[in-house]
Amino acid sequence: MSEQYSNHRDTPLRRFNAFWWGLGCFGIFGLMSVIVYCATDKSADAEDLRKADRLKIRDKVDGAQSKILEGKDMSAAATKVVTPPQATETFVPGSEAHKAAMAALSAKTGGGPGFDLYTAKTCNTCHGADAKTPLAPNYPKLAGQNADYLIAQMKDFAASKRTNGQSAIMTATAVAQQLTDEDTKKISDWLSKLDPPKVELADGPGKDLYTAKLCATCHGADGNTPIMPIYPRLAGQNAQYLIDQMKAIKDGTRSNGQSAAMKALMANVSEDEIKTLAEWLEGKN
Ligand code: HEC
Ligand code: HEC
Repeated sequence: MSEQYSNHRDTPLRRFNAFWWGLGCFGIFGLMSVIVYCATDKSADAEDLRKADRLKIRDKVDGAQSKILEGKDMSAAATKVVTPPQATETFVPGSEAHKAAMAALSAKTGGGPGFDLYTAKTCNTCHGADAKTPLAPNYPKLAGQNADYLIAQMKDFAASKRTNGQSAIMTATAVAQQLTDEDTKKISDWLSKLDPPKVELADGPGKDLYTAKLCATCHGADGNTPIMPIYPRLAGQNAQYLIDQMKAIKDGTRSNGQSAAMKALMANVSEDEIKTLAEWLEGKN
């Protein structure tokens, strides 16, 4: 008998073992599945998780924003007709003073969904409540800018296509604030209808250079009438911001959108000339 089974797998003992091992493994697998299932928070579906991630990024940006605002004296800004609502003790968001300032600003700028979004999405923190009192000299004024240009730039920030200078902060804002194309359009339409910064561009070396270097052919003789809606207005813009952008277009660190149109020409513009042009455009000379 034992001879008959010696080279054969199918003994009753082996069958018995296989049965219990199989059942054991199956049992352990099943138990683990039950544990994993119970440990998963079923209320947090994929959408909520994505939202939680975005909120985390948003908290980081909020942190970065308060760092920028830290130590800044906002009291001068508070006396202007338009008042950055954040970061001032007198203009605690939600306070009566804050509500009054926002109502005045809304009335002055036409209000509407673009105005509401501009504030809700924290754009005012960095670009100023009136969109022409930015926080730092290398931050741009946006009021009166061409809508098509604004939309193109905001989409490029969101898609990390514009990465020069301080662009990372714009990319972070677009992500954190979950800006949709619709939001971008509403904000840009509102911004483009605001009065552009007031500026008198003087005759002199700045103007001569601007003409000689052919800037006027694309941006208009007054720096405010570009030949295409997707080209930017420049007059009255912060000089330091203009300098940074010209340098970035010249050295190729800013290469998004239509900047190739301008890059070749910048090879013939020196650093000193960039400074002269920027100061003239801002209205300093
Ligand atoms: C934390 C500060 C910060 C916040 C918040 C912020 N921006 Fe900006 N924004 C900047 C900086 C800095 C730049 C310039 C980037 C560079 O160095 O090129 C910029 C550039 C831009 C530009 C390009 C302007 C141009 O002339 O090319 C647009 C348009 C813009 N921001 C719109 C917005 C809008 C709309 C919001 C709100 C959704 C917003 N920004 C929120 C800091 C900020
Ligand atoms: C051939 C057309 C052309 C010429 C000439 C030109 N530019 Fe531009 N410029 C552009 C375009 C297009 C942009 C926007 C690029 C983009 O899409 O991001 C731009 C952007 C700029 C910016 C950045 C503005 C902002 O808000 O970020 C500055 C500053 C500027 N130009 C200054 C000048 C000056 C000064 C000259 C002359 C030395 C000049 N440009 C000549 C087409 C031109």
